[in-house]
Amino acid sequence: MTGKVRKVVFPAAGLGTRFLPATKAQPKEMLPLVDKPLIQYGVEEAIHSGIQNIIIVTGRGKASIEDHFDVSFELEHLLETKKKTDLLKQVRDISDMIDVSYVRQKEALGLGHAVLRARELVGNESFAVVLSDDVIVSDIPCIRQLLDIHDFYGASVVALMEVPPEQISAYGVVDAEPVEHAGANGRLFRVRNMVEKPKAQDAPSNLAIIGRYILVPGIFQSIEAIPPGAGGEIQLTDALKHLLRSRPIYGYKFEGKRFDAGDKLGFLQATVEFALRRDDLGSGFREYLRSLQL
Ligand code: G1P
Repeated sequence: MTGKVRKVVFPAAGLGTRFLPATKAQPKEMLPLVDKPLIQYGVEEAIHSGIQNIIIVTGRGKASIEDHFDVSFELEHLLETKKKTDLLKQVRDISDMIDVSYVRQKEALGLGHAVLRARELVGNESFAVVLSDDVIVSDIPCIRQLLDIHDFYGASVVALMEVPPEQISAYGVVDAEPVEHAGANGRLFRVRNMVEKPKAQDAPSNLAIIGRYILVPGIFQSIEAIPPGAGGEIQLTDALKHLLRSRPIYGYKFEGKRFDAGDKLGFLQATVEFALRRDDLGSGFREYLRSLQL
């Protein structure tokens, strides 16, 4: 069954090793870009794309994610008595905006394995997956861009971005052919093959998969069918490759700017750009940066 996509899965059980020591006792999904945790950017993108049903795959030490999306009576009470209405609204909006469920991934066995843990909650329908490390700024939310392709073709869609050769080995990479599609302006591809974290010389193209997916429910059988791949993990890319044998998969070079906020440099870049965009901080921060005379 394809139909309207109602659910989005956030794998959030990873160990966050790229961001140690900050992530030793704190989930990387809760690292703040300016004043909002990474995962909230993804959740807001999903909501702005028309998806309210959020499934978070968590692991040990991730309780603060649940607390973040829960109601905080003490905090709300305090803000109410102090008449901090703006802050109260922000805090309430977080718990009001979504219907969230959690499922545990007991061992970090890979992205494919994490997605499989959401099977019961997803059921037999197409769903979205968001990797909250990938923060994307765009006029039309990236998930919405992919949904439009999914709704048209009734097939799985992955977000694509061109990356330089020296970085390609950090990604899932596709071999794909362009597809004519009204309004897509050369952004739409039909995937022929894909490989997880290839060596630069083996990469089939410069088109990397970025952490936004719309998946048909058949992906669950594919995840079950594949052996561990790169890094000894059950890879979502390998499952997609398996799915390709029986179902078409599309790739969409999304419009927007993506930050790899799971990487220290990418995180810093996102922080600077997000701060500069803020009405309340932008001008003061810009002045400060100028004063550094780099
Ligand atoms: C994951 C996926 C990879 C994808 C990447 C996008 O890798 O396995 O295919 O290209 O996300 O950010 P990770 O970054 O978790 O190693």
